[in-house]
Amino acid sequence: MLDWNRFFSLRSLVCLSVLLGTVSVASSQEAADSVAPEAATSLQQAPVTSAKEFMVVAANPYASMAGFEILKAGGNAIDAMVAVQLTLGLVEPQSSGIGGGAFLMYYDAVAGEITSYDGRETAPMAATPTLFQNDDGEPLKFWDAVVGGRSVGTPGTMRLIHDTHAKYGKLPWARVVEPAAILAQEGFEVSPRLNQLITRDKDRLSRFKSTQDYFFLEGKPLPVGHVLKNPAYAQTLIEVANFGPDAFYKGKVAEDIVKTVQTAEGNPGVLALNDLANYHVIQRDPVCTSYEEYEVCGMGPPSSGALTVAQILGLTEPYDLESDAAKAAQTWRVIGDASRLAFADRGRYMADSDYVPMPTKGLVSEDYLDERSVFLEGQTALPQSEVVPGTPTWDHAMMLADDESIELPSTSHFSIVDAEGNVVSMTTTIENGFGSRLMTNGFLLNNELTDFSFRTHKNGNPIANRVEPGKRPRSSMAPTIVMKDGKPFLAIGSPGGSRIIGYVATTLIAVLDWEMGLQEAIDMPHLVNRFGTYDLEKGTWAEELEAPLQELGYKTNIRDLNSGLHGIMITPEGLIAGVDPRREGAAFGQ
Ligand code: GLY
Repeated sequence: MLDWNRFFSLRSLVCLSVLLGTVSVASSQEAADSVAPEAATSLQQAPVTSAKEFMVVAANPYASMAGFEILKAGGNAIDAMVAVQLTLGLVEPQSSGIGGGAFLMYYDAVAGEITSYDGRETAPMAATPTLFQNDDGEPLKFWDAVVGGRSVGTPGTMRLIHDTHAKYGKLPWARVVEPAAILAQEGFEVSPRLNQLITRDKDRLSRFKSTQDYFFLEGKPLPVGHVLKNPAYAQTLIEVANFGPDAFYKGKVAEDIVKTVQTAEGNPGVLALNDLANYHVIQRDPVCTSYEEYEVCGMGPPSSGALTVAQILGLTEPYDLESDAAKAAQTWRVIGDASRLAFADRGRYMADSDYVPMPTKGLVSEDYLDERSVFLEGQTALPQSEVVPGTPTWDHAMMLADDESIELPSTSHFSIVDAEGNVVSMTTTIENGFGSRLMTNGFLLNNELTDFSFRTHKNGNPIANRVEPGKRPRSSMAPTIVMKDGKPFLAIGSPGGSRIIGYVATTLIAVLDWEMGLQEAIDMPHLVNRFGTYDLEKGTWAEELEAPLQELGYKTNIRDLNSGLHGIMITPEGLIAGVDPRREGAAFGQ
């Protein structure tokens, strides 16, 4: 049960201003005076770039600190994972939370093995393949589909964090839920990023009263630094701390979720109580492929993340991509066209393999990738007509059409290494920024179902990633653990919709092939190609490659590329943090 004495003794556990060093000594002293001694010590902690024993890297300092506190209290990586996720859902509600889904890669130091857990949302049992089509069978406009109840899948994150905690956690469940419950009760400071995103999404957020009431103050987006309390979320967490995930998947919270979805004005959905009651997490074999002297392990179907990253690495490996040529257009031609070929396979073959046959092994077999890598031998961009899916070997073939899913970036990634050597690499999402924009019991509901293809067939062939009842929408999330000599070497991942794949693949190339430091690799400008147009990161040296890449035959687009790469490198000398400067993250460790 939640320890109420402890709850109140740890009040004001985390203060963002103190963490960021933006308050006076007097006020930090006041904050320190108001908490228990062990917590007061932690308030003095500054973010780190390296550590000896354990480390947490997440997209927001409150979340990293919550995980750090748990590790310091003797918890392990899974204990810390629960605290980080529940805190992210509070302080970065636009990106992930208990109303969404997640994938967890876990290295268990005792077993010496990597495993993966699929906490992806599922399509409700009442969802039909034409969920995202109008009466004429045409796909709905993206925003018409996203905002409201139609896009809400059965949330998986709560089951994921609970079930993996029950299996691996050391500290009591209530103890690891506690930090987020306290912070929700006491309030946290609204960050610049949250303020900006509310401002940008004002019209959509204002469509639903409970969402509007939470994110606006006197009609204006919550200002930076405003201390935002979320008693409804605290109450949900207290229920869950005391009664476990049934307090979420059954009873009042479940009823509220269903009501919110089914009565969403203008765009109701079909999520029902039985979908919530029957939700289950799936432990899956990770997808592991070799690259240079490493083994790169990631999340298999229903994510396309690991397979597509592995294809990019495998297709580029025969080419001598030197680190000193990181600014050369030819280097990015090879990476960009490898990515386009991988995305062609992704569009044709990748989806929830529990529902559609998938050539999972064939897509990353050495012979297949060798055969496809020959296409990169030229000196100019592949003509679009040649960027087509290949013919990987598979046991159970099926004619499929290329998919048409639209994915916009949101999501969050965090990495944790504990003192026992366990490693967590977790990517977590409610899909679009602020998900479906529906809010209940202090958390936002996902719009993950719009990760499905809106069309079901093309030219008479079914699309692998079409909507089906109970199916999990295809993801691009690519939480990764890299092994070297049988031991974990790197945990990494990123948000960014389908650009996640490019962010993770190029960071792996930079670290594993070019031997860049982790932070340098994360700082490196992004150049991402998925479907032909080369996206070049605005305000960086990537812009200088615009003309050379155009000469090679690419269309280009200079834009913000908001990755959120958060990683930890594990070296004989200790742990090294990688924190994406494009977000608000921090590393804490000791
Ligand atoms: N919704 C983001 C992803 O799953 O890729």
